[in-house]
Formats: sequence, structure tokens, C-alpha cells
Amino acid sequence: MTEPPPSTFPRVRSGNLTSDLDITAEELRQLLDLAERVKRHPERYRLALRGRILSLLFEKPSLRTRMTFEVAAKQLGGDAILNTGPVGGREPVEDVARNLERWTDLIVARTFSQETVDALARHARIPVVNALSDLYHPCQALADMQTLREQWGVWRGHKLAFVGDGNNVAHSLMLDAARLGLDFTCITPPGYEPKPEIVAKAREFAVETGALIEVTNDLDEGLRGAGAVYTDVWASMGFEHEAAERARVFAAYQVNRELMAKALPGAYFMHCLPAHREEEVTTDVIESPVSLVFEQAENRLHAQKALLLMLLDGPAH
Ligand code: CP
Ligand code: NVA
Repeated sequence: MTEPPPSTFPRVRSGNLTSDLDITAEELRQLLDLAERVKRHPERYRLALRGRILSLLFEKPSLRTRMTFEVAAKQLGGDAILNTGPVGGREPVEDVARNLERWTDLIVARTFSQETVDALARHARIPVVNALSDLYHPCQALADMQTLREQWGVWRGHKLAFVGDGNNVAHSLMLDAARLGLDFTCITPPGYEPKPEIVAKAREFAVETGALIEVTNDLDEGLRGAGAVYTDVWASMGFEHEAAERARVFAAYQVNRELMAKALPGAYFMHCLPAHREEEVTTDVIESPVSLVFEQAENRLHAQKALLLMLLDGPAH
């Protein structure tokens, strides 16, 4: 069977994924449905983006995001070219955008600052995808929502508890959970809560779906009823100089057996990876049968293929 004609792919109306906010709740559901189909029948899509070239701009290291975008592009009939180092170091970000749009079809950018991603999107006439910034990691959240639906069948009626630093990964998970009707609690040490404006936005979305969006410093309260427990590194990229201080502050929030016992029996463990064993998670938990970390990593590929199909207008003409 050949790939469906491009017009059958739903579109992302904003034309970008600079943050989770660029796709509507309806588009998010369409994307996750498409990701499921792409995963089941990869052969149907192998020419869907024939001749399309992605620019991968990475200011920070990456294994999963960089590899999965490159593999996705190639398996869809296109290709990807990596450029590392500061975006806008040698020339204005605006000029970077106005060069890349002349040669390539879409920009994937991993940056220190969200403003860099936003500036690329303002100045490029091609789609821009956030591959992680200081504020968001939307591609990660897409794969994670796909992973949870694979386990539960639905999102509604379940609760995901995030334990750790309330930053990029937590923000994106919260925004997607709210729109999919998944209850979400962010449990952080005092001073590391998610940004209030992002929590407010998630709660606005949750009015539609009935999802409960909570933020707490209390592990017992936050983990009660959770069917999945998610954590991330204590010192994100760019915060390595705070690692010692954070190790002290986050110690009580380590995801270990005792912490997992506060969630529902059999609760899943999730992590965006890379993981630091015996820091934010113990080896026994990440290596246990409830750990979904490699399912999440695999789904990065399928979810991003769906995203590319929805952002790019089919094969090169
Ligand atoms: N989870 C994730 O984004 O991994 P990388 O930093 O390896 O891309
Ligand atoms: N919060 C982490 C996620 C890594 C995928 C970071 O920003 O480094």
C-alpha cells in the first residue's frame, strides 16, 4: 500500500511548534492518532516527505531528539542536516532564519532561550519546531502522551505525577495533559515550581476537559492516586553549575521504591532520558518492569513523524 495523499494529513494551523501552545487540542489529538497509525504502518509513509530537508539547529547536546528527527526525515523519504553551536552567535537569528528558509523545508531548534525559537519562527517562512528550550519540550510530551495511551487506552480518568524540577519537560507535560483530560500533578521542592503563567494556561485548557491540574511540594498528597510517576534530571542543560546545590534540595524527591509506593500499585515509571541513576531515580526503579522509558524513547520517532507530516505540505514539488 502506498502512502495516503498529503491532503489527507490534518494540518497544524499555526504552522509551527515553537511551544505546546502552537497546536490546538483538536490538532493534538489528530497528531497522536496519526502517530499511532505511523507506528503501526511505517511502510505507508516512506515517500510522504520525499525530497524534504530539515535543518537541525542544536545549541545543546542531544541523543534522542536529534537522532529521531534525522531517522524520521529519512524514513519519510526526506533528509536532515545538523548544525551545532549557538544560533545567532555569528549573525542575527533573523538572518539564520532567512538563510535556512531558502534551502530547507523546516527548522528544528534546540536552544537555551525560548526567545531564540520564537525569533526563528517570526522570521522564517518555513515551520519551526522547538526541540527543547528553557521553557518547553513539546516533542517529548507528544511521545509521552502516546506512550500513556498505549498503556491505558485513554487518558481520562488517569493521573500522571511529575516529581522534580518544574521546568521545560514538566511545562509541556502539563499543557498536553490538560488538553487530553489527563489529571496532572507537579511535585517540586519549594522554589522549583512550574511557571505560574503556564499553570494558569493549563488550568484554562482543563476547564474544557475536566482534567485536574495541581502543583504541590508534598509527595504524599501529590502521588496519591497516580498511575504514572515521571521524573527528569535535577540540573537541566544550562544549570550544571547548580548541580551540587540542586542535589541537596532535590534529595528528598528521588524516585525510589519508597516514593513509588505512594502512587497506585503497579504505577508506571517515566523519564525523558538521559537519566542519572541513583540521583533523580534509583537503578531498581528505572530497570523495573513498570519502567516505560524506552517506550517513550521509541515513540519520539513516531510522534515526530506525525508532527512532520502535519507541518509539511507533502513531498517536494
Ligand atoms: N529526552 C530527550 O530530549 O533526549 P535528548 O536530550 O537526548 O534529545
Ligand atoms: N530538563 C532536561 C531535559 C533533557 C531532555 C534539560 O533541559 O536538560
